[in-house]
Amino acid sequence: MTLSRQAAGVTLADIQRPVADRLDAVGETLGRMITGDLPLIQDVSRHLLRTKGKMFRPTLLLLTQDAAGAADERAVALGAIIELIHLATLVHDDSVDHSALRRGMPTVNSLFSHQVSVIMGDYLYSRAIIELTRLEDLELVRVLAQVTNAMTVGEMHQLAAYDALDFDENQYERLCRSKTASLFAAACEVGALRAGPARRRAAWRYGDALGMAFQITDDLLDYTEGEAVTGKPSGLDLKEHKVTLPLIAALPRLTPPDRREVEALFREAAPGQERVARVVRLVEAHGGLEYARDRAATFAAAAEAALDELPASPSRDALRDAIGYAVERRR
Ligand code: IPE
Ligand code: IPE
Ligand code: MG
Ligand code: MG
Repeated sequence: MTLSRQAAGVTLADIQRPVADRLDAVGETLGRMITGDLPLIQDVSRHLLRTKGKMFRPTLLLLTQDAAGAADERAVALGAIIELIHLATLVHDDSVDHSALRRGMPTVNSLFSHQVSVIMGDYLYSRAIIELTRLEDLELVRVLAQVTNAMTVGEMHQLAAYDALDFDENQYERLCRSKTASLFAAACEVGALRAGPARRRAAWRYGDALGMAFQITDDLLDYTEGEAVTGKPSGLDLKEHKVTLPLIAALPRLTPPDRREVEALFREAAPGQERVARVVRLVEAHGGLEYARDRAATFAAAAEAALDELPASPSRDALRDAIGYAVERRR
């Protein structure tokens, strides 16, 4: 990827430095928001708060706000609300994906149960709505209600990507846009809410393209990185028969025997590590990983272009570094 300002070696801490104080406040606010009275809710909340995640979406919100010159005293509350929506979707997503590991810790579905995950996801989401309505700003409610609806539709689209070797790139991109890029775009748009319409629109475009690059990279990491690095199970998408971009790109290039190997994996209810490793090697050998990296780079370039609409500043530099981080990260 050719970012005009080289992001190589930039860490998440570097990107977050300009907003570090407010980001700490977001973490504390989030903790307060999700502590309920009921012992079971307290147990699950405590478990969820044990590891923080990258806090990437509130980081984007705070940086966008500074870069767009749109100071807003509600920034910390808004960052916590966005992260809370993200957390609710992760709790539901891990249950849907039958995933046992998140942020290096057991998931709610594995530690408690799927029932607890369903109810806790709803609890977290409704807590976000309560906090949002406190701000008494209908425009914010409109943006965030749209986005949570889009994410739900995205997760529903996701079900169509299971067991579907005919799932195509257009469908895949629509899925990524709704389940992931929509929240990135909303975080940036909300950050720029008090700027003029041109900057608000640019912030949205940046977040949308960055979110696409981020999800494609996530799907790549599922193929390339071990769970010790990502804190999530490795190869889970294939084990779960989930068709993502590396496989979509490789499929038409496979020889008939290689194709049969992939089909065999998709016929097995619980494919073993060896089978998954063989398909990963096939996908790599037929350029699937390279293709996905190229697509992520294209979205990264679109994100960078959107930043041209914002005035030069240290926060805009950090937003640019965030693009490099999103596609070069390993977790
Ligand atoms: C995970 O998001 C879900 C995706 C959109 C791929 P993150 O990678 O931001 O998860 P945390 O919050 O850092 O754990
Ligand atoms: C992203 O998809 C999930 C959400 C946007 C909720 P994934 O299923 O790939 O995310 P991970 O890999 O579990 O974090
Ligand atoms: Mg998942
Ligand atoms: Mg994933």
